[in-house]
Amino acid sequence: MLSKKQAKAFFLGGTILFSMIFLGLSFESVTISMPEKTNADQITDAVVRGKVIWESNNCMGCHTILGEGAYYAPELTRVYSRKGESYIKTVLMAEQPWAPRGRKMVAYNLSEEDANDVVAFFQWIDGMDLNGFPPEPDPSLK
Ligand code: HEC
Repeated sequence: MLSKKQAKAFFLGGTILFSMIFLGLSFESVTISMPEKTNADQITDAVVRGKVIWESNNCMGCHTILGEGAYYAPELTRVYSRKGESYIKTVLMAEQPWAPRGRKMVAYNLSEEDANDVVAFFQWIDGMDLNGFPPEPDPSLK
């Protein structure tokens, strides 16, 4: 059995060692992994404008992206590779609410320029390495 002194040293040593490992890994995530996995160098002006449109129109009031948002409308993290540029532009530039599956998307009637910016934003999100997120739907539930 450990003496009181040994237990104290074990506790302190363990706490310090694992705190150092935690801080080291956090530092690595923020300065190296995250910019690499999110392709931070590919954030163009169009991507930034697309994100502003995304936020100022409260798209997350209905959609999720990167797992965040509401569950009324489709998840959009991989929409760029799932649906392609022209489908996305058609949805965003539609004058009537887009609703082939029943629920209505807002008819934003965006200009071609704004739609291109939103597409650039989706393309940037699509290129992120998300460790397999979002997962494929369970085939037994299809
Ligand atoms: C009021 C809720 C609502 C809001 C707000 C909303 N959407 Fe949608 N959106 C929908 C619904 C519902 C659909 C699915 C329509 C269908 O396929 O029947 C959809 C479909 C889409 C699609 C096609 C996705 C797919 O997988 O078929 C894209 C892209 C999209 N929305 C982008 C946006 C963007 C960008 C914004 C913000 C500018 C936005 N949406 C705001 C409800 C919303």
